[in-house]
Amino acid sequence: MQVTSQAQPNIALVKYWGKRDADRNLPATGSLSVTLDTLWTRMTVEFDGGDGDRLYVNGQSAPSLLSRVSRCLDTVAGRGRSGACIESECNFPIAAGLASSASSFAALVQAASRASGQSLDPLALARLAGQASGSAARSLYGGFVELRAGDDEIDVASIAAPDEWPLSVTVAVTERAAKPVSSGAAMSVSRESSPFYNTWVERQPADLDKAREAVRTRDFAALAAIAEHNCLKMHSVMWTSRPPIVYWNSATVACLETVRALQRDGIPVFFTIDAGPQVKAVSSPESADAVADALRGTAGVIDVLQSSLGTGARLVDPD
Ligand code: PMV
Repeated sequence: MQVTSQAQPNIALVKYWGKRDADRNLPATGSLSVTLDTLWTRMTVEFDGGDGDRLYVNGQSAPSLLSRVSRCLDTVAGRGRSGACIESECNFPIAAGLASSASSFAALVQAASRASGQSLDPLALARLAGQASGSAARSLYGGFVELRAGDDEIDVASIAAPDEWPLSVTVAVTERAAKPVSSGAAMSVSRESSPFYNTWVERQPADLDKAREAVRTRDFAALAAIAEHNCLKMHSVMWTSRPPIVYWNSATVACLETVRALQRDGIPVFFTIDAGPQVKAVSSPESADAVADALRGTAGVIDVLQSSLGTGARLVDPD
């Protein structure tokens, strides 16, 4: 049976950076994100009994990505499963700090579990997706999503639906190439060498409390303050690692100046940046076009993508 699932990337406002248990891919702390809607990955999976697994990304064979995908299929369908054909379609740049691994693995576990005859609830799927990519667990859910890191497993839930606080996310793409260091490798360097890592982990619960409360009360200014602070703290951990991990480029900094200028003009907007040089600006929907225009006019920006908040992963009919 061939099954297709679509999932959207999510953007963390309180970040996941560091693992408690690398073997089980358990995050050191909780995190809080928003799921997007116009950017998506569609994964089609069929356990067709072929010779090994075959992966095609946007129509091209992608052997370099196959081992991670095969490991994820093993966790979903068991190591005794038959070979699978996996076709991935993605409408935005892959592995460039736009959370393509989140949407890819969320869609992959959902399609693979159904294709192997299972009917798992979103939390079970989120736990499977989280073993492949910590942030992928959040893309099983829509709107504002909180991931809680327990000692043995994660819990994930939507804390506000997309239409309960309809914000916009504008992405300034400053580089299309894949990032030089994977987030998993960078997290482990941070944990081993940044003098700020332990403080980062200790303070995450307080940041999560503030962000959760800001979502509950729909307090944009409070959410903006904690999200920007949390993002800069995560990058400070990266920069103080040895070797340092710097994902930003000059256009990343120029985009932050653009967001500051918009804020000075009274526009409700804030920035966040993940493991890559792209800048995501979160704003009210009414301000989204002004934010997009300003980012488009910023030196070094090569593309601007706009999104509102969307739903979690879902099964779709193949084209
Ligand atoms: O899920 P991973 O291993 O791709 O790590 C995601 C890390 C960040 O995007 C930087 C933060 C986050 O919470 O999504």
